[in-house]
Amino acid sequence: MLKETRRTDPELAQIVDKELIRQEKCIEMIASESTVPVPVMELSGSVFTNKTLEGYPGARFQAGGEVADEMERLAVSRAKELFGAEYVNIQSYSGSTANYSVFATILKPGDKVLAMRLDQGGHLTHGSPANWTSTMYNHTFYGCDPETGCIDYEEMERLAKEVKPKLIICGASSYPRLIDFKRVAEIAESVGAYSMCDMAHVAGLVAAKVIPSPIPYMDFVTSSTTKTFCSARSGMVFCKEKYAKELNKGTFPGALGSIHLHTMAAKCWSFRYAATEEFHDIMVQVVKNAQHMAEELMKRDYTVVSGGTDNHLLVVDLRNKNVTGRQMQTALDSAGISVNKQVVPFDTAKPHITSGIRIGLTSVTQRGLKEDAITEIVDMIDRVVNAPEDEAVIAEVKARAEELISKYPLYPAGAFA
Ligand SMILES: Cc1ncc(COP(=O)(O)O)c(C=O)c1O
Repeated sequence: MLKETRRTDPELAQIVDKELIRQEKCIEMIASESTVPVPVMELSGSVFTNKTLEGYPGARFQAGGEVADEMERLAVSRAKELFGAEYVNIQSYSGSTANYSVFATILKPGDKVLAMRLDQGGHLTHGSPANWTSTMYNHTFYGCDPETGCIDYEEMERLAKEVKPKLIICGASSYPRLIDFKRVAEIAESVGAYSMCDMAHVAGLVAAKVIPSPIPYMDFVTSSTTKTFCSARSGMVFCKEKYAKELNKGTFPGALGSIHLHTMAAKCWSFRYAATEEFHDIMVQVVKNAQHMAEELMKRDYTVVSGGTDNHLLVVDLRNKNVTGRQMQTALDSAGISVNKQVVPFDTAKPHITSGIRIGLTSVTQRGLKEDAITEIVDMIDRVVNAPEDEAVIAEVKARAEELISKYPLYPAGAFA
């Protein structure tokens, strides 16, 4: 890999090499991350990156689109089959722009949207004050039940009746439990709202049929193709056939420009790979590892939000341990374990400090770690939580972390030869 870059820009090639070594040596547990298979990298760097194309197969704005048409049609048919969807648009550049294309399709400035609160699991693009969507639409937010840490559907229903939104969004960045898609769809229908699920985090688990799919219930389903789907940094939008024409217009020219054909090719490969037994088995183990980690943490008196997890991630409330999320993100990073600080439901700490951390199990599971290794990682985390400023402890854990992860290669030997 990087043969020509090494010849023409050794300085930059060295930086990429350093990043590879960092990833190899790190216990990577940021919930939005995964490791892409080598073909995804090959295709992301393929000649499709040279082609400018707008429009849809058979109706392009530029000449020379016939081969890309073949590729996009193949990718669409694979995606529809994999997810059992009536319709999919795979032109989005990311999970964020997938959301924007749905908004461009169905919303007008000032329209009302009901979404999940950012500090309880929602995403920036669902109307956070820091995101442009908050200046364009009129958002109301539902949250979690303080007792259970799970979505408060009664609050959602009450707010839906009160506000009468045009769109109800479910799906989240840091929600460890299954979402009752049927209930959300019923609430939306009862007030004449569109329903949308942003399944960015769990798309791989859905593709592998390890957790239930939102697609049969929702009008629109958006997603990243990174995170548990383990593919290129890109996106996709599913919808009911009756919205297909409008979604296409909302996506291009509504929200996006020319197509990223190189990442589309990578997604095309992944739509096939995600139907394999290999991918299915990884996704099954991701959930087992996440559940095992939650149990091991709780055995050591950690507060795991909602008391566990049904997916690839868990949120740990550190308030009873007298450390902040920011402190733990930094200390664990120094010890070779990568997690991110996380606001927990009803957090009193500032968003740049936070009271918790979010832990994701996708990357380590792809490397082959199973429950016994997860127990070891919990032990390491616990050592650091109990002595976040003790340099000797950090050094000891870093050595243990590197030794453990070195037994599980990031990529097979010779993958980049
Ligand atoms: C629920 C959710 N939606 C959308 C996104 C944005 O995805 P992307 O980074 O692909 O734009 C994220 C990213 O973390 C997310 O968690």
